[in-house]
Amino acid sequence: MSGLDFLSEELEALRSRNLLRETSAGPPTGLVLCSNDYLGLAELPATRAVGVAGGAGAAALVTGYHDTHRLAEHTLAEWVGLPAALLFSSGYCANLGVVSALAGPTDLVLSDQLNHASIIDGCRLSRATVSVFEHCSVEDVARQLESRRSQARRAFVVTESYFGMDATTADLRGLRALCDRFDAALIVDEAHSLGVFGSEGGGLCREAGVVPDVLIGTLGKAVGLHGAFAAGRGELRAFLWNRARSFVFSTATSPAAAAEIPERIQLVRSAEDRRRDVLGWAAELRAVLAERGQRVYGAGPIIPWVLGEATAALTAQQRLLDHGVVGLAIRPPTVPLGQSRVRLAGRAGLSPSQREVALQALSVTADQSF
Ligand SMILES: Cc1ncc(COP(=O)(O)O)c(C=O)c1O
Repeated sequence: MSGLDFLSEELEALRSRNLLRETSAGPPTGLVLCSNDYLGLAELPATRAVGVAGGAGAAALVTGYHDTHRLAEHTLAEWVGLPAALLFSSGYCANLGVVSALAGPTDLVLSDQLNHASIIDGCRLSRATVSVFEHCSVEDVARQLESRRSQARRAFVVTESYFGMDATTADLRGLRALCDRFDAALIVDEAHSLGVFGSEGGGLCREAGVVPDVLIGTLGKAVGLHGAFAAGRGELRAFLWNRARSFVFSTATSPAAAAEIPERIQLVRSAEDRRRDVLGWAAELRAVLAERGQRVYGAGPIIPWVLGEATAALTAQQRLLDHGVVGLAIRPPTVPLGQSRVRLAGRAGLSPSQREVALQALSVTADQSF
């Protein structure tokens, strides 16, 4: 007997519902059609790592903050057109730290129904009153602010700009107007839009001419590196430096990793060809599925091919793999029950023969029934 005997039962319960995720043997073999490396930059070698410390040695508030961090933050803030930025070691840490630092027990947080797990966890940690609004519905946000704002000390509206599992887009202008009207702060997670949308890939807020109170960006997706940042006014950075626990109590980003950021952001800003490439390619993939009567959501580089039950998504994943293409099944709890899908994503820089393989695999798979 052991206090952890329940683990085998829990794992078995997941397995029996086709929801068990197993550690993969290594990177997938085949043409990867489901990464977040939208601009095809993740495989570029590091150029600045030599001669730069590999470890920060401590949290930023202790002795871990280096010139490379300062320069990276400056570059990132400038890119998204906001006064200041703070580097976090991941997007998960950024959302966790930002939401839980800003909102407290007497506050109201309105959170989109399909927000990423890291936002949800940040909301939970904040101990604020959290209310979920209908996906991308400014009407619901308006209703909720109308009825609940006056009972809260502070209010926050938090959303992704381009939803990573659904390829849908928030009405950022509508949300900004409501936040202004009801004295609420707007927090926007641009994880999947930075690098792809907006002038110089500066994101959907920039494209919409919306200034969020907090912009979260990740570097592990289109930027092809690792880490994340929160950007906004100078006081926001100073406040997070003091109060975002996932920042304060965690070793600072490696200086070597931070040193890669400025040059990479320059590359992303000028990558118009790659942006055109990924969007055009994703549209082709989307069309193959739509022509075959498949359920595909949204627009842009992410293609959520919704199949319903987890078994159907796993079957599609296996069929694609049989044709040399990796398109991973996404199952609950990442997506709601009954909404399992294969989440495909465009990537810039594929060769004509790779495209041919992908189109062939997708059309053959989609032609079969599930
Ligand atoms: C919308 C969103 N925010 C945050 C994250 C977390 O970012 P990171 O992978 O850098 O932890 C992800 C994905 O991983 C995401 O999809």
